[in-house]
Amino acid sequence: MSNEKLEKIKKELQEDLQNVKTETFLNELKVKYLGKKGLITELNSEIKNIPNEEKKSFGMAVNEIRNLFNTSYDEKLKAFKEEELNKKLASETIDITLPSKKIKRGSLHPMTLITEEFEDLFVSMGYTVYEGPEIESDENCFQKLNIPKGHPARDAQDTFYLKDEFENFLLRSQTSTAQVRAMEENVEKKPLRIVCPGKVYRRDEDATHSHQFMQIEGLVIDENVSMADLKGTLELFCKKILGEKTEVRFRPSYFPFTEPSVEVDVSCFKCQGKGCNLCKQTGWIEVLGAGMVHPNVLQMCGYDPKKYQGFAFGTGLDRFAMFKYGIPDIRTIYGNDIRFIEQFARKDDTYEIK
Ligand code: DAH
Repeated sequence: MSNEKLEKIKKELQEDLQNVKTETFLNELKVKYLGKKGLITELNSEIKNIPNEEKKSFGMAVNEIRNLFNTSYDEKLKAFKEEELNKKLASETIDITLPSKKIKRGSLHPMTLITEEFEDLFVSMGYTVYEGPEIESDENCFQKLNIPKGHPARDAQDTFYLKDEFENFLLRSQTSTAQVRAMEENVEKKPLRIVCPGKVYRRDEDATHSHQFMQIEGLVIDENVSMADLKGTLELFCKKILGEKTEVRFRPSYFPFTEPSVEVDVSCFKCQGKGCNLCKQTGWIEVLGAGMVHPNVLQMCGYDPKKYQGFAFGTGLDRFAMFKYGIPDIRTIYGNDIRFIEQFARKDDTYEIK
C-alpha cells in the first residue's frame, strides 16, 4: 500500500466534503468511506499486509483520514439539522400582533329582555321575583282562586291536562297560581310583595294567541292596602314600561279571584290616542287585569281577610313585547328563527366575524 493511495483517498475525501450540499449526499459519503466496503474500512483491512516498521505510520495516516471524515461529518450534520430547525421555526412563527377573530356573541331573546325589564322595575319597588311550576294542580290553578269545578270562568282558560293518576294536574293557564303558592308558603302569614313571570298554556293558536305564552303576575298583601295603591302602582308601571306620556284608564271588570276587579287600558302608543289599526280606532289598548284580592282567596290560602287586604294584577308579557318591539305575529316569538332573534341584539353585544 503506497502513500500515494492514501493521499489519493484523502484528496478524494476533501473534494467530496466540499461538494456536500445535502444531508442525503453526506450520508452517501458515510457509506462510501466507512461502509462495509468503504474506502477507509478497506484501508483498515490492509494493515495486515503492511511491513511491520511501516504499520505505525500507516495506521496514523488512516486514523487521520478517518478523523477528518468524522469531524467533518459531525459538523455538517449539525449544520443541516440546524438549518432544518430554523426553517421549521420560521415557517411556524406566530404573529402575535395580528388582531384576533371577533367572537360573535348571541343576543337575548325578546321575551328574556322584556321579562328582565319587568323584573328590574318591580324589584326596584321592593318586590321579590317568585317562580312557580308550569305543571299545577287543579286546586292551585282554579279552585283556590275562587274558580270551583264547573265555573264558567274555566272556559276561557281551557288548557292541557295530565292523564291517569295525574288527572288532577294540568299545565297552568295563568300565573295567578303563583298567588296561591306564595300565600301558602308564607307560613307566618306576613305581608307579601311578589311578581311571578313565567310560561302559561291554553288551547289557543292564531296570530295573536299561542298555545304557550308568558304572563307576569303581581301580588301585594298587607294591612291597609287599598285600590289607590293598586292604581298608583299600575300607573307607574305602565308609564315606566311604555313611556311617560302613556295615559292609563281603569274599567270595571270581573275576575273570580278579585273583588272589585278592573281592566286596565293604556293610551295607544302608536297613534297617541287618535285612533289607528293597532287600537282598533278606539285610542286605547287593553293591557292588564287586576283587582283587590277576593276575601275567599285570602281565606283559602290561610290569610285572615279581616286583617289583610291585597291587590293583584296579571298581564301578558308577549303582548308587551309585541307592542314594544313591533312584532306582528306572536308565533314568531316561539319560532326559534335566528334571523328574528338576532334583531334584538344590543349594538355593543355583537361583533362581526370576517
Ligand atoms: N289571570 C288572569 C288571566 O290570565 C289575569 C289577571 C286578572 C290576573 C286579574 C290577576 C288579576 O292577578 O287580579 O286572564
